Amino acid sequence: MLLAFALSCLAILNSTTAKRVIQWSFVQNGTSGIIPVELITISPTLMLMYDRADGNPLLLPNGQRAWAALWNIETQTATPLLTQTDAFCAGGAFISNGTLVSVGGQPHDSGASPGDGLMGIRLFGPCASSTGAGCTVFEDQANIHLKALRWYPTGLRLPDGSVMIIGGSNANTFYNNATTAVNSIEFFPSKEDTVRPSQFLLDAQPVNMFPRSVVLPSGHVFIAANNISMLYDVDSNTELARLPEIPNGVRITNPFDGSLELLPLIPPLYEPTVLVCGGSAADDRRPTSNLTNLDPTTNQCSRMTLTPAGIARGWQVELMPDRRILAESVLLPNGDVIFINGGHTGYSGYPSVSNSNVTGSNAANPAMRPILYRTSLSRNRITQDGLPSSNIPRMYHSVASMTGKGNIMVAGSNPNRLVTPPGTVAFPTEYRVEYLNPDFITNNSPRPVIHRAPTQLLFNQRVTMKVTIPPSLWLGTIRVSLMDLGYVTHAQHANSRLVVLEHTLVGNTLIITGPPNANIFPPAPAWLFLVADGVWSEGLQLMVGDGGNPPRPASAQGIKIPTNSI
Ligand SMILES: *[C@@H]1O[C@H](CO)[C@@H](O)[C@H](O)[C@H]1NC(C)=O
Ligand SMILES: *[C@@H]1O[C@H](CO)[C@@H](O)[C@H](O)[C@H]1NC(C)=O
Ligand SMILES: *[C@@H]1O[C@H](CO)[C@@H](O)[C@H](O)[C@H]1NC(C)=O
Ligand SMILES: *[C@@H]1O[C@H](CO)[C@@H](O)[C@H](O)[C@H]1NC(C)=O
Ligand SMILES: *[C@@H]1O[C@H](CO)[C@@H](O)[C@H](O)[C@H]1NC(C)=O
Ligand SMILES: *[C@@H]1O[C@H](CO)[C@@H](O)[C@H](O)[C@H]1NC(C)=O
Repeated sequence: MLLAFALSCLAILNSTTAKRVIQWSFVQNGTSGIIPVELITISPTLMLMYDRADGNPLLLPNGQRAWAALWNIETQTATPLLTQTDAFCAGGAFISNGTLVSVGGQPHDSGASPGDGLMGIRLFGPCASSTGAGCTVFEDQANIHLKALRWYPTGLRLPDGSVMIIGGSNANTFYNNATTAVNSIEFFPSKEDTVRPSQFLLDAQPVNMFPRSVVLPSGHVFIAANNISMLYDVDSNTELARLPEIPNGVRITNPFDGSLELLPLIPPLYEPTVLVCGGSAADDRRPTSNLTNLDPTTNQCSRMTLTPAGIARGWQVELMPDRRILAESVLLPNGDVIFINGGHTGYSGYPSVSNSNVTGSNAANPAMRPILYRTSLSRNRITQDGLPSSNIPRMYHSVASMTGKGNIMVAGSNPNRLVTPPGTVAFPTEYRVEYLNPDFITNNSPRPVIHRAPTQLLFNQRVTMKVTIPPSLWLGTIRVSLMDLGYVTHAQHANSRLVVLEHTLVGNTLIITGPPNANIFPPAPAWLFLVADGVWSEGLQLMVGDGGNPPRPASAQGIKIPTNSI
């Protein structure tokens, strides 16, 4: 019976996707003032950007160059934020009390402010102001800091609402090696006195920075790095299983970045499937000097369902129409994924490979036209139908994120060691901000609207809200998507997640049920989108869980459900 239900859902979703091809368009508007090396959607109007203080035009009130800022998507302006430590190439996550945590970063850059970011922990928000006025980054390095030096770490929010901090390097490097690699795990808030060494990360050297990581419905953590993957149990600190290697030698972590997404979790089974597209199949034993920025990348997408049957089938390969590295993946409220930015050839990182002194970049041949992965189809999932080309190359240190309004903010690019103006290199520092808009935003056509909704959603809680669905939209396909829009940096959208909520719609009354438990959606601020006939509402921000400080006790983590997730 469960299977029949799942199949009928799939049939409905198929017809949705087949019905509407969204026509997307780029609009350029405003300049970011700093390079958004990290981009995080924090409110209906604001995006937080982290960079380093190195020649950015945006100035703090005291005249110093800004290395963090809030971007307002309504006014297209950046407001500088003061930080004490350098968040360049940090990782992070929202935690259960609504605070955005940023971890790690780079060492002293200039000798002056900002300070060494390698052990930095930065706490932002919750920020109630729609303009960001009064919202600050809190740091207390003497008392709140990492246990290890970490540049390029991943921050993953766990079911208890705390953040697991995975891997990284302790110095600027192309390949992570025995001296630079930080092959360990720790937590914020801390769970113990020491870090947890990771054999898996050691085995994934030298291509193991920003390990791609996902919390599964079982509560276990899936981690992929280089071309290997594994299943980790946080409570017992054990690697439960080494999972299949990504086929055909494709490697997906920095500096060979592909982008990995957890595809939508759909009731009643919430079967987890991960998808990773792009990266490189170069032999990672080739020395840096033997690599060039014209080396082919991969056109491979690899997809695996993390159930016993899915693992037995292994990674399923699908091919993109072209090869890509450094693509950003953006999960859409309808469950599809857009891959955008990056290059067709080369690698991540600052100029270090052959030929990079000529173009000023480890990657070349920018990928100007995004790709759409239509998740709900059973084949021919990859298309570029409806997707335009940008005219702005977005290489290393560029980003893209879904906003609360339901469009995609695209910004950044600086594959150079320092801020580099146009005219001197192929890919100068890029401050122009673009939005990739779906046709219903471009045309301002009627969209579903969520009214009078709650600000909090407990696990398994039923909540009633008023909605309007324009008569022009077919009511046969309604989806309620609960999303974490991720902490975006370096083709890694950590914590990006979409959980389809069970719902009943009667007239204008929508009754939704919160995710059953914290394994399905680790507690934190989230976005609710109502999708009708392929058109999504603006997002509604709410707190999932009780909003308490991490770690949340088991009693605040919802109900157990049967799951076939490994
Ligand atoms: C750019 O943003 C400003 C401020 O929101 C707005 O007035 C203007 O219409 C926008 N321009 C374009 C081309 O969208
Ligand atoms: C590791 O990488 C660093 C930075 O690139 C380099 O200085 C060092 O020599 C390398 N060490 C080893 C053991 O290869
Ligand atoms: C993964 O990488 C290792 C080390 O380079 C290589 O020996 C192995 O064959 C690769 N696995 C696959 C499935 O390509
Ligand atoms: C890389 O090494 C191979 C094998 O030695 C060689 O043929 C090739 O020319 C080298 N490429 C570069 C860019 O150094
Ligand atoms: C780039 O580096 C190569 C090898 O070191 C050198 O031969 C070449 O002249 C350099 N090109 C430029 C534009 O600096
Ligand atoms: C959220 O929790 C963290 C970790 O315990 C704590 O440092 C921070 O102060 C809390 N934030 C708020 C707003 O209470």
